[in-house]
Amino acid sequence: MTPDTTNVLALGYEILPVLTQRRSPRAYTAQPVPTDLLHLLFTAASSSASCFGEQPWRYIVGSQAATPEAFQKILASMGGFNQVWAKDAPVLGVSVAKLTFSHDGNPNAWARHDVGQASAALAIQAAALGLQIHQMAGFSPDAIRSSFGIPADYEPVAVFTLGYPGDPAALPEALREKEVAPRVRKPLSEILFEGGWPQPKDERYDQAPV
Ligand SMILES: Cc1cc2nc3c(=O)[nH]c(=O)nc-3n(C[C@H](O)[C@H](O)[C@H](O)COP(=O)(O)O)c2cc1C
Repeated sequence: MTPDTTNVLALGYEILPVLTQRRSPRAYTAQPVPTDLLHLLFTAASSSASCFGEQPWRYIVGSQAATPEAFQKILASMGGFNQVWAKDAPVLGVSVAKLTFSHDGNPNAWARHDVGQASAALAIQAAALGLQIHQMAGFSPDAIRSSFGIPADYEPVAVFTLGYPGDPAALPEALREKEVAPRVRKPLSEILFEGGWPQPKDERYDQAPV
C-alpha cells in the first residue's frame, strides 16, 4: 500500500493521517481493483452505525474489467461535467438508501444519513489502502433507477468513482487546477458551537465593546 500524498489536507490539529489523505481525485490509473479488495472496502462500509441497526445502505458497482455493462450504465447517469473524468476510473459505484425500516415499514428519516456514514467509512478504508473514491451528486437518480430496476422503496443517493489515484498532469487543464488547488475547510468557530447555538446578539455591532 502506497499512501496518496497528493494534496494532503493541512488542518490545525493532528488528526488521523488517513483523514488528511482522503480526497476526491479526478485522475486515476487504469489499475483494476480486484474483487477481493472490493469486498474488503464494502465490508468497511458495512461496519458503520445505523438507526435501529437497519443498515439501509446498498451499493452497486461496475468495473471496466469485470462488469463493463454496469460501468456504462452508471457512467451514462452522470452529468457531462462528471463523465469527462469519471470515464477513466477503473470502477464506478452507486450508493442506494432503503427508505423504510424493515421492522415496521415506517419511513426511515435517517436512511440517507446512514448511507453517508457508510460511504465515509468506505472512503477512509480506501484511502488507508492507497485508493480513493470521488462521490458525486451530479447524476440522474431516475436513470439509475430505470437502468438497474431499483424498487420504489430504495433511492439512489450518490454515484462515485473508485480506484488508484493517477497523475493530475493527465487531466485537462481546468480539472488539473482543481486537483491541486489548496484544500480548505471552514474554521472550527463556524462549525462548532460550544455551549449553544450562536445568537443574533453575538453579531450586533452596537453591543460590541468600544
Ligand atoms: C454528496 C457529494 C456530492 C458531490 N458531487 C460532486 C459532483 O457532482 N462532481 C464533483 O466533481 N465532485 C463532487 N463532490 C466532491 C466534492 O466537491 C468534494 O468532496 C469537496 O470539494 C471536498 O474535496 P475533498 O473530498 O477532496 O476533500 C461531491 C461530494 C459529495 C460528498
